[in-house]
Amino acid sequence: MANYEDNRIIASSLSYAYPDADKSAVENVTMRVKKGEFLAILGHNGSGKSTLAKLFNALYVPTAGTVWVCGLDTKDDDLVFDIRQHAGMVFQNPDNQIVATVVEEDVAFGLENNGVAPAEIRVRIDEALAAVNMSKHAKKAPHMLSGGQKQRVAIAGVLAMKPDVIILDESTAMLDPSGRAEVMNTVHRLNREEGISVVIITHYMSEAATADYLIVMDEGRIAMSGTPREVFTKVEAVRKLGLDVPPMTDLAHMLRENGLDVRADVLTVDEMVEEVCRLSSNI
Ligand SMILES: Nc1ncnc2c1ncn2[C@@H]1O[C@H](COP(=O)(O)OP(=O)(O)OP(=O)(O)O)[C@@H](O)[C@H]1O
Ligand SMILES: [Mg+2]
Repeated sequence: MANYEDNRIIASSLSYAYPDADKSAVENVTMRVKKGEFLAILGHNGSGKSTLAKLFNALYVPTAGTVWVCGLDTKDDDLVFDIRQHAGMVFQNPDNQIVATVVEEDVAFGLENNGVAPAEIRVRIDEALAAVNMSKHAKKAPHMLSGGQKQRVAIAGVLAMKPDVIILDESTAMLDPSGRAEVMNTVHRLNREEGISVVIITHYMSEAATADYLIVMDEGRIAMSGTPREVFTKVEAVRKLGLDVPPMTDLAHMLRENGLDVRADVLTVDEMVEEVCRLSSNI
C-alpha cells in the first residue's frame, strides 16, 4: 500500500460512474494530496470535481481503482467512520450543514455521535472554535451569524474531529467577498499552523492562485496539473478548458500581447505592481 505518512489521500486509476449513467463522472484519475499540502481542484461545471471530492470522503465508493485516505481503503465498509474522521468535508451551503440550534452544540455534534467523552468534547469545542476565531459566538444561534461565520462553524465541526485533511467543495461560493476572505484566511492558517492538508474546489481563480498545487478537471479526467504558476501561465489551454486565469495573469497576458515586456507568470496584485515598477524604472 502507498505511503500514508507523506500522502494523506491517494487516488489510483480512480473511476466512478453514477448508476445508469452512460459515462463515468470520474475517469481514470491518479493523484495524491500530500501531507501539509494546499491543493485546489478546478474545472468547468460538470467536470467531476464534486464526485471526486465525495470519493475522497467515502461518500462514494470507486467503480474502478482505489482511494486511500490516510492509508485506509475507502472500499472497506468497516473503515468509513474512520475515513470521515481523517478527511472532513465542508459543503457549499452553510445552512445545510448546521444541525444544532446553538453554535457549540453544532460543533459537538460529530463528537457526540462518535462517543467522545464529555470532558474531551468540551476541550475540542473550545479549541475548534478558537481555531476559526469564533469563540465569542459559542452560545449564539447559528441563524444569527453571517454566511462566512456559519462556514467557519462548519469548519470547526470538522476540526473538532481532528482531521488530517479538510475538503471544501465550493464552500465560499455563497459568501460575500468578506466572508470568502474569512474562510480562505482560516483554512490557510490551519494549513500553515496545524499542518492540516486542504483541498479546495473553487470557481474563483484568485483562490486557486493561493494553492500549492492545482488539478484541472475536464470530462472526469485530469486535464492539467501543476503549481498555479505552471498552470495559469498556459493561458490559452486554461481558457480552452472553460476557465479563466486570475485577473492579474490575464492583465499580464494582455500587456504582453500589446508588446510590453511583463513577466507571463504574474499571479497576484503585488507581483503586477512589482512588474509595473520595474518597467517604469526602465523607461
Ligand atoms: N447524483 C447524480 N446522478 C447522476 N449523475 C450525476 C449526479 N451528480 C453528478 N452527476 C453527473 O456527473 C458529472 C460530474 O458532476 P459533478 O457534480 O461531479 O461536477 P462538478 O465538477 O462538481 O460540477 P459543478 O462545477 O457544477 O459543481 C456530471 O455530468 C453530472 O451531471
Ligand atoms: Mg460540484
